[in-house]
Amino acid sequence: MTKLWGGRFSKQTHKLVEEFTKSIHFDQKLAKYDCLGSLAHIAILKKAGLLTNQEHSKLATALRSIAKTIEDRSFFKNIDSSFEDIHSYIQHLVEKKAGKAGLKLHTCRSRNDQIVLDMKLFCLDELKITQTMLKNFSESLKALAGKNKGICLPGLTHLQHAMIISLSDYLGAYQEMLARDHQRLQQIHDNIRLTFGSGAIAGTSISASAYYFTSSDLPKAIDPTANSIDVVSDRDFIIETLSGLAVIGMHLSRLAEDVILWASKEFDFIDIDDAFCTGSSLMPQKKNPDVLELVRGYSGRLYGNLVNVLVMMKGLPLSYNRDMQLDKEPLFDSFEIIQKELAVLTELFKNVTFKKENIAKQIDDESLYATDLSDYLVQKGVAFKEAHAIIGKLIQHKYQSGQELRTMDDQELKTFHPLLNSRMINKIIDPEYSVKSKKSIKR
Ligand code: ARG
Repeated sequence: MTKLWGGRFSKQTHKLVEEFTKSIHFDQKLAKYDCLGSLAHIAILKKAGLLTNQEHSKLATALRSIAKTIEDRSFFKNIDSSFEDIHSYIQHLVEKKAGKAGLKLHTCRSRNDQIVLDMKLFCLDELKITQTMLKNFSESLKALAGKNKGICLPGLTHLQHAMIISLSDYLGAYQEMLARDHQRLQQIHDNIRLTFGSGAIAGTSISASAYYFTSSDLPKAIDPTANSIDVVSDRDFIIETLSGLAVIGMHLSRLAEDVILWASKEFDFIDIDDAFCTGSSLMPQKKNPDVLELVRGYSGRLYGNLVNVLVMMKGLPLSYNRDMQLDKEPLFDSFEIIQKELAVLTELFKNVTFKKENIAKQIDDESLYATDLSDYLVQKGVAFKEAHAIIGKLIQHKYQSGQELRTMDDQELKTFHPLLNSRMINKIIDPEYSVKSKKSIKR
């Protein structure tokens, strides 16, 4: 194993130090982006006159052949994990393939700059993949709403019966969140600027004009660095990404919690297909929503990953510090968690059935229509505060006497307010009427 440094050292690095400082076991995930970055770098070196055409072509051939092994995954089977990191290992492979030209690969470059480009390319790809998965999941919620048109639910505030809502609006709320998540990832994607030429901290001797680079291999153009110190110090793009992923995790966790409640005996609103539930080793009757519980549980790790990198960065003096090597595992982990969650939830929601009869029993609760009744009085000219008190009294009477509002006759109703009568009570205590009477929502 040859190091990228070592000339000034008179001793071998201690084994424990090598073990402790290496990152190849996790940063190998960046192999593809390291090759793409190096292909851009050698094109810039050629432009700057630091590589001959022949040297460039030898290096390009070597990098392309390594990239191929990365694509067919054979690269990862043969990886020599005695190397410090993925950059050192790919440098070594290039030297093996391109001979002397390989020794010029790292000209005017530092890993401090190289790692930033690699990580940005990784984020750009993964953000796009995650966006597609968000869209697919949103589609599966839309299809579920379409399959269950007309179902109304008790809408809850404080986990107490509040007002009637439609299932499609309920699922629509999550679709809104997913659309914001998609938009947020797009903003994070748009904020990422690819630059080269920062070197270790102070820039390089190559003219900025040589650093303008575009290629169909890259999702964005590379620009010369505007401030080399900032570029090698900056991990905002990772923090923003982790934050975007943490918010997605929070949304998915809330949805998971709702569905866990719905699947409980107490609610009993839905059935989740057996293929998406698990059982108990002891209790033969159990069918548990473990997938949803894990979605809820993983949100802790997603927040942890964000806080991890925020804390890691907070006291670092400019510019690059080795602490920053530790930004990778949390980033990789959060992408993996969110993508796994979206994949399994997309399928799970295709396999949910609603128990219409049980839901119907719940929305029969007259108290869910109390606001609609007071609204009726307001429409007829009663002041809102008075209407609120009148219907409050009516509901109190219902609870105390056990009498259903629907069964009260006109005479009894009129003791609460002359505008109340049995016909209007029965018209208003109706889920469809309740949903339709809400006109403020832009449809
Ligand atoms: N493995 C390092 C990281 O991920 C690469 C940069 C190392 N730079 C250095 N000067 N040691 O951050």
